[in-house]
Amino acid sequence: MRLAILASRIRVEEKLLIEALHKRAIDFDVVNDGELLLDLARGGEEWRKYDTVFCRSLSQSRGQAVLQVLGAWGIPTVNTAEVTALCNDKLLTTLALLKAGIPTPRTLLAFEETTALQGVERLGYPVVLKPTSGSWGRLLARINDRDAAEAVLEHQETLGGYQHQIHYIQEHIRKPQRDIRAFVVGERTICAIYRVSEHWVTNTARGAVTSNCPVTPELNALCVRAARAVGGGILAVDVFEDEQRGFLVNEINATMEFRNSIAPTGVDIPSEMLDYVLARAGVREEVLL
Ligand SMILES: Nc1ncnc2c1ncn2[C@@H]1O[C@H](COP(=O)(O)OP(=O)(O)O)[C@@H](O)[C@H]1O
Ligand SMILES: [Mg+2]
Repeated sequence: MRLAILASRIRVEEKLLIEALHKRAIDFDVVNDGELLLDLARGGEEWRKYDTVFCRSLSQSRGQAVLQVLGAWGIPTVNTAEVTALCNDKLLTTLALLKAGIPTPRTLLAFEETTALQGVERLGYPVVLKPTSGSWGRLLARINDRDAAEAVLEHQETLGGYQHQIHYIQEHIRKPQRDIRAFVVGERTICAIYRVSEHWVTNTARGAVTSNCPVTPELNALCVRAARAVGGGILAVDVFEDEQRGFLVNEINATMEFRNSIAPTGVDIPSEMLDYVLARAGVREEVLL
């Protein structure tokens, strides 16, 4: 058994995974994604020594690209390229959730400033605009009135990249100063945390404080369904609590941080992750090359 951890640098999370691997005496390499030069037609002979590759890349786009190449070469990865691509794109995630009948905030899509403004007014203020790819709560805007809507849409059109000209317009959920981050590993929600903040953006990268969130049968069932809807694996499901509708799934993350979730939940997240990764070892996807 030999494992590769694909990483951009060794964060706290990767350190914990490496410690867990040492404890189990499992053979592994840490592959620095920055040093890779992938010769696409060569078929990845040098990767065949790995039974599985666990993607922990810092950059979503870089990790996704490597997974796509490894997937095409038939190297087993966690998560798969398909699941990662879906989760990295909020539009694709929302569509997958809707298709599976999973409650999610109402979302409109527009491509020009005037129709986007109509969308904003149809949902009613406040409304949330977010880039379809992004994380750590970056470049999210809560729009409280028409002046702000006009200004942000104009900025996106004029200053944004091409991906900011896809306007993902979402109803604002009046959540109770927190949201839920649930960790799904395979067919089980292994633990969940509340991310509590005074700010409406409750990412821990933006300073939210974490505490244990009990995994009720209802929360477990919803999160496992959500994980299945995007193809399954090791996934972090973001959930909002809505006063009337109950749980709404906001988004799903394929390469998550977990350093602030171990102490409050008491769950050995890296060890649970490794159990899953090792079980996937040798499970080869369809070989294309
Ligand atoms: N529609 C919304 N209503 C209320 N809060 C939201 C909404 N969308 C996002 N947020 C807040 O912003 C945070 C980050 O949004 P999210 O869609 O998860 O993007 P990211 O990929 O940057 O984490 C959420 O965890 C939540 O606290
Ligand atoms: Mg999020």
